[in-house]
Amino acid sequence: MKIAVLYGGVSAEREVSLSTGKQIISALESKGHEVTGIDFHPSRLKELLELEADVVFLGLHGKYGEDGRLQGLLDMMGVPYVGSGALASGIAMDKAKSKQFFKDTGINIAKEKVLYRKSYDEKQLELSFDFPAVVKPNREGSTIGLTIAQNHDELLKGIAEAFLHDDTILVEQFVSGKEVTVAVMGEHNNYKALPVVEIEPKNAFYDYESKYAEGGSIHYVPARLDENTTAKLKEQAVRAHEVLGCEVYSRVDFIVPHDGSEPVILEVNTLPGMTPTSLFPDAAKEIGMDYPTMIEKLIELSLK
Ligand code: DAL
Ligand code: MG
Repeated sequence: MKIAVLYGGVSAEREVSLSTGKQIISALESKGHEVTGIDFHPSRLKELLELEADVVFLGLHGKYGEDGRLQGLLDMMGVPYVGSGALASGIAMDKAKSKQFFKDTGINIAKEKVLYRKSYDEKQLELSFDFPAVVKPNREGSTIGLTIAQNHDELLKGIAEAFLHDDTILVEQFVSGKEVTVAVMGEHNNYKALPVVEIEPKNAFYDYESKYAEGGSIHYVPARLDENTTAKLKEQAVRAHEVLGCEVYSRVDFIVPHDGSEPVILEVNTLPGMTPTSLFPDAAKEIGMDYPTMIEKLIELSLK
């Protein structure tokens, strides 16, 4: 097949995407495909169209790659691509909006306060929940711009930091628990959850370094959880994927609270990392699907 792989791009997750793209390209080459990698900027759209690829694999993360805008453009141009469409990608990228969908479908979400640059007033700031609080840009990935505040001063600093990355930010109650993630894969009306992956970060939480540094975290597959919790996470991951209208694949992140309360969903990632330290490939490996086979499977599902 003639396949274009888009990677890099202009988002804050560019470095992650360079790694994702490199892995995807070598996997597809190892399967004998004709692959062209493009470090994607809008100025390279003409080049992409002229390639007349059978399919475009999006190895991009974050703004302009994962947030639906590129997907909409490709739809308009009639170019087939891997993964979710424009609307689902846009909603999934917006943590605050997607949390409303999760809540409506009965999945537990963390208490939150959404702040908008236009109306933010430091003096009026009050939280309806206790510290610690997690402060994050609403539409970012890889924990970029994310901090954990233990008190009001740290909260103000965290908010200033998060506003450097987005006009909308999310302050959530910190949930003490295990970080887990569920890869979802399949076709319309028949999505399946892969084995749950548990993450034990070396740092205090699963930050950028724990995510991408070699040995930054240990992944347990399957997660060390009881059967009930595992089944619940898998069922909720598929439900979250479906309620946002995602297609082909996604990775759904949760916290399983130490106090035994219900799992808390964090977000759905429509273009999850495919780097050597990433989680989705580990889940696929657990069901006997090696990396190149997994990438080919995602293409096959997208072209159905
Ligand atoms: N946003 C990163 C790439 C992930 O979710 O894996
Ligand atoms: Mg993410």
